[in-house]
Amino acid sequence: MAEKMSGERTHTIGLIPGDGTGPEVVEEGVKVLEAVSKKFGVGFHFKAFDLGGEAYKRNGTLLPDGVLDQLRSMDAVFLGAIGHPDVNPGILEKGILLKLRFTLDLYINLRPVILYPGVASLLKDKGPEDIDFAVIRENSEGVYAGGGGLFKEGTPDEVAVQESINTRKGVERCLRYAYEYCRKRNRRKHLTLCGKTNVLIYESGLWYRVFQELHDAYSDIEIDYQHVDALCMWMLKNPEQFDVIVTSNLFGDIITDIGAVIQGGLGIAAGGNINPEGNAMFEPIGGSAPKYTGLGKINPMAAIGAVQMMLDYLGEEAAAQAVLDAIRKVVKEDLKGLGAGKMGYSTGEVGDLVVQALSSS
Ligand code: IPM
Ligand code: MN
Repeated sequence: MAEKMSGERTHTIGLIPGDGTGPEVVEEGVKVLEAVSKKFGVGFHFKAFDLGGEAYKRNGTLLPDGVLDQLRSMDAVFLGAIGHPDVNPGILEKGILLKLRFTLDLYINLRPVILYPGVASLLKDKGPEDIDFAVIRENSEGVYAGGGGLFKEGTPDEVAVQESINTRKGVERCLRYAYEYCRKRNRRKHLTLCGKTNVLIYESGLWYRVFQELHDAYSDIEIDYQHVDALCMWMLKNPEQFDVIVTSNLFGDIITDIGAVIQGGLGIAAGGNINPEGNAMFEPIGGSAPKYTGLGKINPMAAIGAVQMMLDYLGEEAAAQAVLDAIRKVVKEDLKGLGAGKMGYSTGEVGDLVVQALSSS
């Protein structure tokens, strides 16, 4: 699907449509990028990569080094979904998604939680003014680093050790990004550290100390700390208190699923895996949704949201804003719901509506 479009600036975009409904939503994201290209005179050069469960079943490969090098050379990567019902859990995740995050050192996972006007939140008393924050999840360390092992496996004396790796460098660069992001966002300038200092005294202790140390350079930002269990409760009870939340890899994984559901579900939740000095990969947070594959029922809005974040990352701020406005308009005025099969339109029609809104703005 290599394709060249004309424009003043050209960005090379690696596409990983992946599995299940991934290709369907990537197609809609590309449709929106093509419309952006026309409207803003930005060029995109797409290069598609055949990765995922189907490719693994066909030829036994996950993420060959040559492919990794090509992806590294892209200005940004747009991922649909990785995950296949016929492949044992962990293989594709570790061999593709986590490998991309680790080898490209995409140490930030940025996951905005925004309830758009017109969307029904699971929280019946909360509206768009209450749910508008961002989670910054550390994306390269913690338990995801895979440290640990089994001893006396399969015997009654079996021992399973699962380690959490937290380097000062890794913690510091994530916290620094969070402070900077909070400052740039310039809303409430409030940064919450999420941890578990009362139990994970080493891991969360390090996060807490570095958080405090860095605060000297960011005294314009108000900070607070919450234990992860309490924070889960507050996300549901009182989400309006949050502006930016920063946390370790596993806690970030967990709390962003809560974030997704309070913003209207996986049909709308997008995220970016970012190395601020290097590569970046954007994705809808939802998975490959095998049961909806090929039916035109999956909501592409999360993927279009990922495209919007990608444009912002690429420095195409005007285009990013226009896509955001188009998403807001379509969500508010056209869509009946955000769940798969509930939009009142097919996957392709939702993409067309966004393109229409974009072109007429
Ligand atoms: C996510 C996903 C992944 C994660 C899985 C698929 C490995 O849940 O991106 O949140 O745990 O990071
Ligand atoms: Mn997750």
